[in-house]
Amino acid sequence: MGEPSSSEQKIWHPFTQMARFDADPQVVVASGEGNHLIGTDGKRYVDAVSSMWAIVHGHSHPHIVEAIQRQAATLQHSTLLGATHSVAEELANRLSKHLPPELSRFFFSGDGASAVEVALKMAIQYWANKGQPEKQLIVSLDMAYHGDTAGAVSVGGVGRFRDSYGPLLFEPLRIPNPYAYRCDLCASECTLACLDPIEELLKTRGHEIAAVIVEPRVQAAAGMIVAPEGHLARVAQSCARHGVLLIADEIATGFGKTGAMFACDLEWVTPDIMTIGKGMTGGYLPMSATIAKDEIYQAFYDQTYGSASTLYHGHTFAGNPICAAAAIANLDVFEESPVLERVLERSSFLRTLLQENFGGHPLVGDIRQQGLMAGIELVRDASNKTPFDSSEGIGARVSLAARDRGVLLRPLGDVLVVMPPLSIEEDQLIQIVDSIGYGLDKVAKELGGPKSGH
Ligand SMILES: Cc1ncc(COP(=O)(O)O)c(C=O)c1O
Repeated sequence: MGEPSSSEQKIWHPFTQMARFDADPQVVVASGEGNHLIGTDGKRYVDAVSSMWAIVHGHSHPHIVEAIQRQAATLQHSTLLGATHSVAEELANRLSKHLPPELSRFFFSGDGASAVEVALKMAIQYWANKGQPEKQLIVSLDMAYHGDTAGAVSVGGVGRFRDSYGPLLFEPLRIPNPYAYRCDLCASECTLACLDPIEELLKTRGHEIAAVIVEPRVQAAAGMIVAPEGHLARVAQSCARHGVLLIADEIATGFGKTGAMFACDLEWVTPDIMTIGKGMTGGYLPMSATIAKDEIYQAFYDQTYGSASTLYHGHTFAGNPICAAAAIANLDVFEESPVLERVLERSSFLRTLLQENFGGHPLVGDIRQQGLMAGIELVRDASNKTPFDSSEGIGARVSLAARDRGVLLRPLGDVLVVMPPLSIEEDQLIQIVDSIGYGLDKVAKELGGPKSGH
């Protein structure tokens, strides 16, 4: 694989320390086929993180590719600002079939973070439009991640993603997140004591709180932190009890990744506002949506031209027809093949593999998984959960080593992530796990520690 020198390297990569990027060997991807990415040198890699958690049915899926091509030849773009087009109309109808009937109003945007910005604005303005402008606070979870635009970063709770941008941000009210591995709120067994503060907060300050925003079931960017069953439902109950909106950010968890179409389905929760993105177009094109209950929509509805109750937000490419055609084709695949059944089979296969290979591994502190979203938390000493110093880049080094075994990973700090396309095959899961074992052995050797035999 050719190594671009820093002078040839023109791209400033997102979420990337460019000096490390220049120092480490890089794969230059040329094409995608099924669950593989193929380098310019012809080498094939299993896409173990579904190209930043986006790809759903594999790369180059003929049905989605054909839909994009057909749409590109018909109508490439036409605005939704004060106008409409048939492809976006069809998409809203098709998405409705996969959602609770209350979630009936679709506001389209491009990236996930934009959908979150819209959700936050909708929540605040909803209360103002209803004559309760004092309800303007947002509650979010510790270690939350909702994207990288200013509003989305504000409600985020990962210090490193936030600390440099203080002057741009607002402060939400924060509540503990359900991080069972490092939680000392419950005595021994998890009794969801982390939920007591939210009930208390909403009870005492609900009159000034507009919404609670959560990543349902899995805090992905925090390190694939899986909430215990019942957590989401109890947050939803607290919100309903105290007249606070619930925003479920399904941008990472949506479209089958957790084993259900949406993570909210796992606990029969209907949020007031839901955000979706990433896998919406099968992961091929940028598209997101903020989906609201009808009663929220109605609070913005007013015949007066220039009404202050209008939602003053919109992106040029909102509901772009090519993206919308891809999103419809993505749903076709869900509807025409047993995708979710397959996810359940593959995720239980992955669970066994991860436990067999890494349960008890000296560098592995915790393995957590929901559907095809899995995290392996690496620690210096599993007996006392001592983390590595982040500057050692252990997660990054293991992931780089995995490339030698034909697997592309992208860790979250020292949490290794396995989040493949839903179309992943068993032998590819074995290859992913094998490559992680190989990477762990390599790094353990560099650290002077034991090998586990990969
Ligand atoms: C839960 C969640 N919300 C929002 C986002 C932001 O999405 P995007 O990167 O498309 O802006 C992400 C991205 O990882 C996410 O995981």
